[in-house]
Amino acid sequence: MARTRTTKTVAQRIDLNYFKRPTTFKRVRLFLVILAPLLAIGWLAWQAFVHDPHVYSSGRMSGAHAVLEKQCSECHVNKTGEFSAKAADNACLSCHDGPMHHESQVRADVPACATCHVEHRGHVNIIASSNISCSECHSHLKVSAGNTLYATNIRTLEDGHPEIAALRKDFKDPGTILLNHSIHMKPIRHSPNGPVVQMECADCHRPEAVKASWPYADANYVDAKVSYDTKEVLLPVKTGTLQPRHAMGRAYMAPVKFSTSCAACHLLTFDKRFDIGVPHDKPEVVHAFVLKKFQEYIAGHPADVRVVRDPPRDLTGKPLQPEVRVLTAAQWVAERTADAEELLWRKTCKQCHALNTMKGASLPHVLEANLTERWMPHARFDHDAHRGFSCVGCHPGALASKDTSDVLVPPLANCKTCHAPGPDHAESRCFECHTYHDWSKRKEVKPMYLFPGLQAGGK
Ligand code: HEC
Ligand code: HEC
Ligand code: HEC
Ligand code: HEC
Ligand code: HEC
Ligand code: HEC
Ligand code: HEC
Ligand code: HEC
Ligand code: HEC
Ligand code: HEC
Repeated sequence: MARTRTTKTVAQRIDLNYFKRPTTFKRVRLFLVILAPLLAIGWLAWQAFVHDPHVYSSGRMSGAHAVLEKQCSECHVNKTGEFSAKAADNACLSCHDGPMHHESQVRADVPACATCHVEHRGHVNIIASSNISCSECHSHLKVSAGNTLYATNIRTLEDGHPEIAALRKDFKDPGTILLNHSIHMKPIRHSPNGPVVQMECADCHRPEAVKASWPYADANYVDAKVSYDTKEVLLPVKTGTLQPRHAMGRAYMAPVKFSTSCAACHLLTFDKRFDIGVPHDKPEVVHAFVLKKFQEYIAGHPADVRVVRDPPRDLTGKPLQPEVRVLTAAQWVAERTADAEELLWRKTCKQCHALNTMKGASLPHVLEANLTERWMPHARFDHDAHRGFSCVGCHPGALASKDTSDVLVPPLANCKTCHAPGPDHAESRCFECHTYHDWSKRKEVKPMYLFPGLQAGGK
């Protein structure tokens, strides 16, 4: 059959006035157009009536501020008392300080609190600021006066970030305590006739807060008071180092101490007449101790002032009449002390220390230990957050190092194996590794805020 329908006949079937006629659908639509705003206005009115400011909110508050969920005006204040969509820095500062970053920053560039601490993004970590909030300045770093010492084109950890300063060319560990890590990390004798032991890193290195006994300690030395200031063994931390706000005493390793980590094997004995060693202290203290020990000894053994000289043979091997000298007690003490100190300064102490004798001085001076407390003064690190990872994973050099001057902290490339973008990695935005606020400049803020439940009428 031939087709009878043509385009024309089909077109004639269409009612050209269809849109003027009411339909069910249109009636519903009209109804909604009127109803929706009415509902909205009603709801707003109701919310205003019950004082729920949630209506303006663009999202849930961060975890730290969740208690402020209903207290919009704590952050959104404005002079006339009306709601302002901008959160004022002053409002933030009325509850807690957020001290400045650096004296040298260009004032005009300093971002508002809310640039970094974004709100209404849900129950998230309000500290997790974006890379851009830092690279805004650090991708073309400017200082208010003079030149900066720091890398000036950092955009992300992957892009433009410099190597750790301690690992840049020609930097050496300035410490003076001699230690050969390599021989101590292999099986080693406890004492000349003692058992062979395998030491671990933690036998010498632990964070301050760790409470556990030390396998190579000597209680006499641990309990002894020393005349040097134990803080003095550390190099002063570089000025301008920002301290993290929360220090738990587990972030950094405490400086190694002779008393807890060396004393059981490295005896400071000074004469065969005594089992005990000299104090581990300044040469003046050691000298006074040695002198006193010999004085006490000779008082108890007066016959010992009769000294028989060694060796009682001549070069031909014939026994000689022993040369006997009878000394005064004072002479005896002086000779014994000189012998003992010869051994101490030239051998015992010198195994670990550099000693120098000033012209005219009778006693040597032990060089300052100069142990480094913060290897990365410009970044944060926390051993506790990495406690699951083996020490040598980050410090492989410690197994082979023969000299104190070797720097054993890991390169940034090591950090980047874990700290990288993406869900399979640890955080890699700037805030993870850096302190921003200079908390040493923190102003105390008098707490004024009342918990919602305590406020009159539960506002
Ligand atoms: C702890 C402080 C704080 C509290 C409390 C707070 N806000 Fe905000 N709010 C902010 C910050 C920060 C911004 C980001 C705006 C800016 O750059 O100033 C913001 C932005 C906004 C904006 C603008 C839209 C946007 O996403 O930028 C609105 C609207 C808003 N808040 C509503 C509210 C309401 C409604 C409440 C109470 C339920 C509230 N806020 C409580 C800190 C707060
Ligand atoms: C009404 C008081 C109040 C105001 C206003 C306020 N905060 Fe807070 N903020 C708190 C309290 C309470 C805490 C939780 C305790 C603490 O860490 O001090 C907190 C915590 C924080 C924290 C630390 C979060 C953490 O995980 O440790 C940051 C960052 C912060 N606020 C930034 C801001 C910023 C930015 C503003 C302004 C937009 C602001 N606050 C306004 C009371 C306030
Ligand atoms: C350029 C980004 C940036 C700006 C701007 C900024 N902060 Fe911070 N803030 C951070 C970072 C990163 C941290 C975490 C490291 C630290 O403690 O310095 C932090 C930490 C904090 C903390 C402590 C968190 C804790 O419990 O350890 C408070 C409180 C805080 N900021 C408040 C403020 C206030 C108030 C302002 C505005 C005056 C402000 N911040 C401006 C980036 C910023
Ligand atoms: C388990 C016992 C033991 C402990 C603990 C120990 N040492 Fe030793 N140390 C030895 C022995 C044994 C030698 C001699 C090894 C050799 O010469 O082969 C030695 C050698 C040394 C040497 C000379 C290295 C060389 O290159 O000749 C120095 C320096 C040294 N130790 C420093 C220290 C310091 C510092 C401590 C504490 C932080 C310490 N030791 C803890 C057993 C120990
Ligand atoms: C086995 C290695 C070792 C031997 C041997 C040793 N010391 Fe030490 N000495 C250390 C270590 C480790 C420190 C670091 C801090 C501490 O133990 O208090 C130190 C620190 C010192 C200090 C403080 C340095 C400063 O910076 O103020 C003095 C003083 C000192 N020793 C004196 C001596 C004298 C004197 C002797 C010999 C009688 C001696 N030491 C033998 C390892 C040793
Ligand atoms: C995985 C940790 C990590 C992250 C993420 C990170 N840094 Fe660093 N940053 C370091 C370490 C480590 C140093 C070396 C510190 C030192 O040598 O004292 C450093 C040094 C710096 C320095 C000093 C540079 C110099 O010339 O000595 C600046 C500035 C800096 N970082 C900015 C940033 C900025 C901006 C970001 C984000 C884009 C960032 N960092 C991300 C670990 C990190
Ligand atoms: C307003 C611009 C500005 C912003 C934003 C900024 N910085 Fe800085 N930053 C500076 C200046 C200026 C210096 C000091 C340069 C100098 O003294 O030579 C500095 C120094 C540093 C240093 C090296 C010195 C130190 O403190 O150890 C680090 C690390 C650093 N900033 C990290 C950050 C991080 C992380 C952020 C983001 C949370 C950030 N900065 C945001 C301007 C800024
Ligand atoms: C994830 C890598 C990592 C692991 C794992 C790690 N360290 Fe470190 N270690 C570092 C970094 C980075 C520094 C430099 C920190 C600083 O001083 O700024 C450091 C510093 C040190 C220092 C010098 C003192 C100090 O704290 O600055 C000692 C000692 C040390 N580590 C020993 C250890 C021992 C022992 C272990 C195992 C229990 C260990 N480390 C595990 C990265 C690591
Ligand atoms: C016998 C004690 C002893 C043992 C065991 C030991 N150390 Fe040390 N370590 C020291 C002493 C003392 C110093 C300071 C002198 C120096 O820098 O060599 C030091 C310094 C360090 C430093 C910082 C100095 C630098 O130049 O980077 C690191 C990191 C370190 N040790 C890691 C380790 C690791 C990792 C292990 C285990 C594989 C380990 N140490 C085992 C005694 C020890
Ligand atoms: C083997 C993987 C690994 C390596 C290597 C590593 N990190 Fe981490 N780091 C982590 C993980 C995982 C966390 C999160 C731990 C936690 O939840 O607190 C972390 C957390 C941190 C933190 C935050 C600590 C805190 O208390 O919030 C800092 C800072 C940090 N790392 C710096 C570094 C630096 C600097 C290096 C290189 C020297 C480094 N990390 C190397 C896995 C690693």
